[in-house]
Amino acid sequence: MTNAGLGNVLASKQVVFIGGSGGVGKTTVSAALAVSLAIHTELSVLVITVDPARRLADALGVSSLGNEPVDVDLGSIKAKGRLSAAMVDMKDSWDQIVQRCADPAVQERIFANPIYQNISSQFVQSHDYIAVEVLFELSNRGNFDLIVVDTPPSRNAIDFLDAPARMEEFFSSKLLKWLIAPYRSKVFVSAFKPFNAVAERILGSDFVAQLAEFFVDFQGMQDGFLIRAKAVSELIKSEKSAFVVVTTPSEAPVTEANFLISELVERNLPLSAVIVNRTLPKKLADREVVNAAARLEESAQEATELLVSCFRREHPDVEEELNLALPAIFSRVLSEVENCYRGLSGQVSTEVAQRTRIGADRDSIIEIPQMRNDIASLQQLSGLLEHLWS
Ligand SMILES: Nc1ncnc2c1ncn2[C@@H]1O[C@H](COP(=O)(O)OP(=O)(O)OP(=O)(O)O)[C@@H](O)[C@H]1O
Ligand SMILES: [Mg+2]
Repeated sequence: MTNAGLGNVLASKQVVFIGGSGGVGKTTVSAALAVSLAIHTELSVLVITVDPARRLADALGVSSLGNEPVDVDLGSIKAKGRLSAAMVDMKDSWDQIVQRCADPAVQERIFANPIYQNISSQFVQSHDYIAVEVLFELSNRGNFDLIVVDTPPSRNAIDFLDAPARMEEFFSSKLLKWLIAPYRSKVFVSAFKPFNAVAERILGSDFVAQLAEFFVDFQGMQDGFLIRAKAVSELIKSEKSAFVVVTTPSEAPVTEANFLISELVERNLPLSAVIVNRTLPKKLADREVVNAAARLEESAQEATELLVSCFRREHPDVEEELNLALPAIFSRVLSEVENCYRGLSGQVSTEVAQRTRIGADRDSIIEIPQMRNDIASLQQLSGLLEHLWS
């Protein structure tokens, strides 16, 4: 597939999930893909990001917390479509879920519960669920033709696909039933007594009471919650969704990407592309480069003398001490340059070998080079675009 081919495939979808292991560039690629789709198609594109680096958040205009999408000002970049961005905010998302699913009296109790106030840290595993929840909420509004979803860093890259099912499981789990049984009815169910006594001894009775109260209230919202969890699962499975896997050309991320790809295949979910991010230029492994390094090594003495004499000619008044040190300095510089060439060409060969390990069609693999700086502005994002849409 050509890169423009990827754009065309994605343009016919409603949701594009960007997955991959931690730190490979999911957030950056999501933003760059969304910008390129807004530029090249007439679509209204939304990118939902998770925890973008501060300056990238500033560039997208989503620095202030909240799930509400904001229009992105593309400045001098000419675009056929429109771009909006939203940043997943855990606290805001949970508040919205509670407001939607619970009646006002229950809402008040939940919001006041210390357990709820710490929910984002208590419910670490819910980050990916919240990301899909936000997606569901925003996609239901119908304001956007295409939503690009950056996925949160998680234990493993497939977690976000299972998040709705995990939530369903949690609500029907035995542990939850045991924990809340004594608090749900005033008639203490004797079967739960021993479990509760142990829980109170280990966790403290106040904590267990707060936790139980929270979940009793939470169970009241279960139906609304489960309906949405099912709907999110359906959306993920539908033909309106597409998946892009991001990796770097290193061993561990490629292994993780392969795992993610195999899970997608197993679930019959379509893989639209694998993006290999932060690659070195292939020309660093060209024979000429390797030969140049070898020549530099062979004629190091000659090259050093040449550099020293040039320098002395340009700087006739150089201090005596520096003048004496010049041969050693230039010799070291040349040997560093030679090492650099050798190291980089070796690394390119390793990257090429890693690329061949990727378990996807060659045609679906797109490379994005390592840029000189972190990607923190729309300008820098647009520097990635030519690789996504040429
Ligand atoms: N092609 C690139 N060239 C240079 N820097 C890059 C490139 N791609 C990403 N980066 C930088 O790498 C860092 C990590 O990128 P990013 O935050 O997109 O990764 P992530 O996969 O979303 O991480 P996490 O798993 O923590 O969410 C950022 O500082 C980003 O600017
Ligand atoms: Mg990220």
